[in-house]
Amino acid sequence: MDPDDLLCYCFHVTHRKVMNYVRIHRPRVASELSECGGAGTGCGWCVPFLKRHFQAGQCRQNDVEIELSAAEYAQRRQAWLAQRSGRSGASVGREADGRVSDREESGGPTGMAD
Ligand code: FES
Repeated sequence: MDPDDLLCYCFHVTHRKVMNYVRIHRPRVASELSECGGAGTGCGWCVPFLKRHFQAGQCRQNDVEIELSAAEYAQRRQAWLAQRSGRSGASVGREADGRVSDREESGGPTGMAD
């Protein structure tokens, strides 16, 4: 994926915006990334990717490679949303206040490249 590709579809937040947020604000916990344009506070699809950005920032690395094309990323999100809509009570990785959870998700997006 390219830096200007969308990372969070719900809030139209790009990789570049998240990378810059991490570089400038140096969040202490992954949930602070929700303050980057609301990233991760919608459907929850992008939360694992936000966590990767956060972890890279902890290591003072600014590059996060996502081994998917923008089209594949979007398709997997659609499939994940469709699968999720078939379940009841699914967690989307958000705290009660709407911030992104730091907890690992069970049932979140799968098949992501590391
Ligand atoms: S894609 Fe980021 S919350 Fe939905």
